[in-house]
Amino acid sequence: MAKSMGTIAIAPNVFWVGVKDYNRRLFDGLIPLPHGTSYNAYLIVGKDKTALIDTVNPGFEKDLVDKIAQHMDPTKIDYVIMNHAEPDHANAAKHVLNIAKNAKLVTGAKGKEAAMMYFDIDASRIDVVDENSRIDLGGKTLKFIDAPWLHWPETIFTYLEEDKILFPCDFFGSHLAGGAFYSDEYGDEKALDMAKLYFAEIMMPFRKPGQTAIEKVKKLAPKIIAPSHGVIWREPKVIMDVYEKWTTEKMEKKVMIAYVSMWGSTEKMVKALNEALVKKGISVNVFDLTNTEVGHIAKELVDTPVVVIGGPTVLGGVHPVAAYATLLVKTLRAPTKYGVVLTSYGWSGGAVKQIQALLEGSKLEVLGVVEVKGPPKQAEFDKVADLASKIEEKLDQL
Ligand code: FEO
Repeated sequence: MAKSMGTIAIAPNVFWVGVKDYNRRLFDGLIPLPHGTSYNAYLIVGKDKTALIDTVNPGFEKDLVDKIAQHMDPTKIDYVIMNHAEPDHANAAKHVLNIAKNAKLVTGAKGKEAAMMYFDIDASRIDVVDENSRIDLGGKTLKFIDAPWLHWPETIFTYLEEDKILFPCDFFGSHLAGGAFYSDEYGDEKALDMAKLYFAEIMMPFRKPGQTAIEKVKKLAPKIIAPSHGVIWREPKVIMDVYEKWTTEKMEKKVMIAYVSMWGSTEKMVKALNEALVKKGISVNVFDLTNTEVGHIAKELVDTPVVVIGGPTVLGGVHPVAAYATLLVKTLRAPTKYGVVLTSYGWSGGAVKQIQALLEGSKLEVLGVVEVKGPPKQAEFDKVADLASKIEEKLDQL
């Protein structure tokens, strides 16, 4: 396990005491982490009491306690605030409660149920808060914001009134370990790129609850947004503006083509469509699914209105790699509005039927399908050209 860095103060008596997990390469058994991640926990030392906001992933308990000990006696912690019950933030809560015998776990009503179920924390150790609750630490006052389904049902945000710091746990997060702490230390471009990747995989399916939360955050007007993964935003407008765009489905005028080809027939149609779209001045991102990480596809889905799936029939169904990409569109509840299918087969079809079945229940409108037996000929290329015009029309209407 990589050794983490020291602590930093993000405001007077407000300390980052999290850990940086440089070596982690996968989250949820699905999400690639090219730059590792961090589990950000924050210690707030008031004149009278102290609170720890969120904890860390299993395996880093000692790291967390050592960091807290740089600022205070960890046995004297009064509150462990659990914004979210997922183990990467909440698993070490029980460890801290075992050390700090008088500490209370503070969370919402659903969080209480989750803490008892997942971590076997006794009800007597849990204080339930809601949006009317305040915890006065002595010159540091905490209030709480209901933020259900961001991205679990129990999620809340914590707000430190005096310093105007929002602690939204996963919301506004990014999987980025790195040596720095603040978004501006990495530059907006890199920080936002990682935030978009994170949003795609974690928050994109929850755009409506996201909109509600953003309105609440706007009213608070925080000076700092300190999530529990990745960079801290000390210019909150930077991340709030893009979150507003992503949650309200503001699309870019562009097309994503995600394809796999076995003997080049599907690929010929992909290339023809790409060329036709580019000739029309349309921005196209083409991904060969055999060497594309799932994160790149997810990130494009955030603001791409047209997705083209290319994949041949294999043994009576769609190529499994193309099936995976198709399922991703549906699973992540992408805001994609239009779909196109390009497919080929040798002796019997089946890909189209299976793609349709995979997309059942999604809101995606299929603009067209080009299916060919063997290599594509002029008739198929003409259909591809027609599809390019249809796509252009739809993009113009956005
Ligand atoms: Fe970072 Fe939903 O846990």
